[in-house]
Amino acid sequence: MKNCIIVTGGAGFIGSNFVLSWVKGQHGQCVNLDKLTYAGNLANLAAIEKNSEYVFIQGDIGDRAVVDALLKKYHPYAIVNFAAESHVDRSIHAPGEFIQTNIVGTFNLLEAARAYWNDLNDADKSNFRFLHVSTDEVYGSLSATDPAFKETNPYEPNSPYSASKAASDHLVRAYHHTYGMPTLTTNCSNNYGPYHFPEKLIPLVIHHALNGKPLPIYGNGSNVRDWLYVADHCSAIRRVLEAGKVGETYNIGGWNEKTNLEVVHTLCDILDKEKPKQSGSYRDQITYVTDRPGHDQRYAIDASKIERELGWKPAETFETGIHKTVKWYLTHQNWVDNVTSGEYKNWVNKNYNERGEELA
Ligand code: NAD
Ligand code: DAU
Repeated sequence: MKNCIIVTGGAGFIGSNFVLSWVKGQHGQCVNLDKLTYAGNLANLAAIEKNSEYVFIQGDIGDRAVVDALLKKYHPYAIVNFAAESHVDRSIHAPGEFIQTNIVGTFNLLEAARAYWNDLNDADKSNFRFLHVSTDEVYGSLSATDPAFKETNPYEPNSPYSASKAASDHLVRAYHHTYGMPTLTTNCSNNYGPYHFPEKLIPLVIHHALNGKPLPIYGNGSNVRDWLYVADHCSAIRRVLEAGKVGETYNIGGWNEKTNLEVVHTLCDILDKEKPKQSGSYRDQITYVTDRPGHDQRYAIDASKIERELGWKPAETFETGIHKTVKWYLTHQNWVDNVTSGEYKNWVNKNYNERGEELA
């Protein structure tokens, strides 16, 4: 087998951070299969586009012929599956694509991987890994006093997005249990950092703050998320790929639980220092809008298994990571301008007009 991995969804937020760090860190050849949906952006990967260790292929994980051809040509020792529809609010408006990519697409990838893996020699067979990148949302919602999610928590997904991710996790589990395929699954909490598409809370709030628009808080802002800087998620995935026990799942999180209101206040306070308004604070732009249907109250990851068994810990605290993130957005306004033209405006109109806000 070649020193090569195939990454799917490598032009999205986490995938592009992963591919950049993989190629810059000289971990070997990286083939990126991405459909380039609205969330995929080749500008994220401009720094490595001419690197001889990097190959980009535009294609769908649901297209068996494309996946088979890539496996045959590049002979990878691993597949890392990031490709997904990832936004909860979009899954509420239009769940069909989530079923297609997250479930049927992952099934197709597993089938192609199974055929490829079956034909490998014994040594290559045992070295091969199928790493599936998933989310903490599959575990459902916690109350304020519940312990954080462990790998042993039952699955209780509440949105079409999390249900589709849960289905894909179950397929991955079954391919290990039934066929013995060397799979690994990671369930991570909310990421933030560079190249985060501004449909999600943190980049949306930074973008709207700088443009004088309302900062929309769903419900009363008391929902809790557990934030992890994206580079830490990437280092955790590398560690699981390198040392994870096949068939296992690993929870990844930052031990950084915050209410949405705390997050938005922190962003406003950093912006008040880094790019003060002529008068007043960015906090003045906060506005409460109609809640997300079925809004999960709290996510929290117990990341002690990956620390104990694989020695992985996050490098960033929320304070260091969020400062880096705001600075990145302030210095990459061209990137933001490019991704917020066109289709983005339609989405913002659709999602927020029905919540009673004109944000586009
Ligand atoms: P994203 O929406 O930013 O990127 C998804 C990428 O997948 C895009 O480049 C898109 O073009 C590509 N893609 C979509 N459908 C495809 C298909 N059918 N074939 C090939 N490529 C396709 O997503 P993200 O936030 O970077 O999330 C990446 C993965 O990590 C997802 O599986 C998501 O469920 C998981 N995850 C995300 C978070 C988070 O906080 N963002 C946390 C935990 C887990
Ligand atoms: O927990 C991991 C998950 O985190 C990933 O699996 C998903 O792919 C990722 O999108 C993220 O899901 P969330 O729904 O938690 O992220 P989002 O940024 O959409 O919302 C974060 C919180 O902020 C959530 O409680 C909803 C709230 N919110 C979001 C938006 C977009 C607002 O209050 N206002 C907003 O405008």
